Amino acid sequence: MEKNKNNRTINAPGDASKLVPLNRKPGRGLDIGTANLVSASHTKDNEVVIRAQRNAFIDVESNSFSRNMMTKLGVNYVVNNGSLCVMGDPAFDFANIFNRSTRRPMRNGFISPDEQDALPMIKILVENVVGKPCVKGEICCFSVPAEPMDAEMNVIYHKGIFEGILRRLGYTPRSMIEGHAVVFSELGADDFTGIGISCGGGMFNICMAYKTVPAISFSISRGGDWIDENVGRVTGLPTSRATLLKERGVNLMNPKNPTEEAIVIYYRNLINYTLENIKKKMTTSQSMPNFPEPISIVCSGGTSLIDGFIEVFRDEFERIKFPIEVKEIRRAADPLNSVARGSLIAAISEK
Ligand SMILES: Nc1ncnc2c1ncn2[C@@H]1O[C@H](COP(=O)(O)OP(=O)(O)OP(=O)(O)O)[C@@H](O)[C@H]1O
Ligand SMILES: [Mg+2]
Repeated sequence: MEKNKNNRTINAPGDASKLVPLNRKPGRGLDIGTANLVSASHTKDNEVVIRAQRNAFIDVESNSFSRNMMTKLGVNYVVNNGSLCVMGDPAFDFANIFNRSTRRPMRNGFISPDEQDALPMIKILVENVVGKPCVKGEICCFSVPAEPMDAEMNVIYHKGIFEGILRRLGYTPRSMIEGHAVVFSELGADDFTGIGISCGGGMFNICMAYKTVPAISFSISRGGDWIDENVGRVTGLPTSRATLLKERGVNLMNPKNPTEEAIVIYYRNLINYTLENIKKKMTTSQSMPNFPEPISIVCSGGTSLIDGFIEVFRDEFERIKFPIEVKEIRRAADPLNSVARGSLIAAISEK
């Protein structure tokens, strides 16, 4: 195994699914995200081990020379229907260098109906991040989106596909709503009470819980991809380029050029849309708890990583009349990995 530039632990080609766990204790968390797949496990010394890769691939011209070179260079690829598919993180680099877009097995939080190779590719990508179970029937708790409030998506089919993949690998699959996993990983100090938001690539997932029990959970079908697509559209840039510029470092409180201005406009709109929808759910839901004390809101996920995110969130929060008292709005300690960590906590608790 090696570390790439984003400090993700990745596998050399071919070794991933055969990876034999050595110092691992049973119990695994898996965040199945539109943009990233992240697995969390723990060692016998109780250290959490994270393995992640982009949920993407790209097909490139195949000949024996490029195949041999890629093997030597340690690029993770598979041959699919005669074409060479570069898998995971390097697919994103190839897309940017060749000015193309990656192919994505998922869209807006769910398996993409528009990608014909979605199922075989997602199966390989999942195998690469989870590897083999360390005991037969090891529990693997994986994240699923909550029912979207602004789109018709089939949660049952999506969940069933991943249960099948994990079962065939030898795991006992358990599903967990993504926002609930954020509550598990980030709100322990608040007795698992408050609002967890996972700000992802394909969607935002929201869960409001009281002492671990989810009271309101829902998702909205907008996330980092929605920002990138819109920024690309208004600036004339390919979407992958807009993603790259956004991730390279933008401060939402201090945009420096028209592209950054566009990023700020869509971020602000998305945060406002999220808060308005939370408020709407809270004021219309029968299951809304009467919190005895002010609660915390925690934002996790890659889309919350941008500088100035929490400032803009607080700013938009001040503008709407929120129905309950909030004592704190903060970013998760480890935003890209908190869903996988929360799912791991759930997997261990069940055991
Ligand atoms: N430094 C950064 N600044 C801004 N955005 C970032 C940064 N790093 C990653 N992102 C964005 O975070 C998103 C991916 O986040 P995350 O991994 O939480 O999503 P996901 O779990 O795969 O998707 P989802 O939960 O919506 O299905 C992408 O849109 C990516 O562009
Ligand atoms: Mg996510």
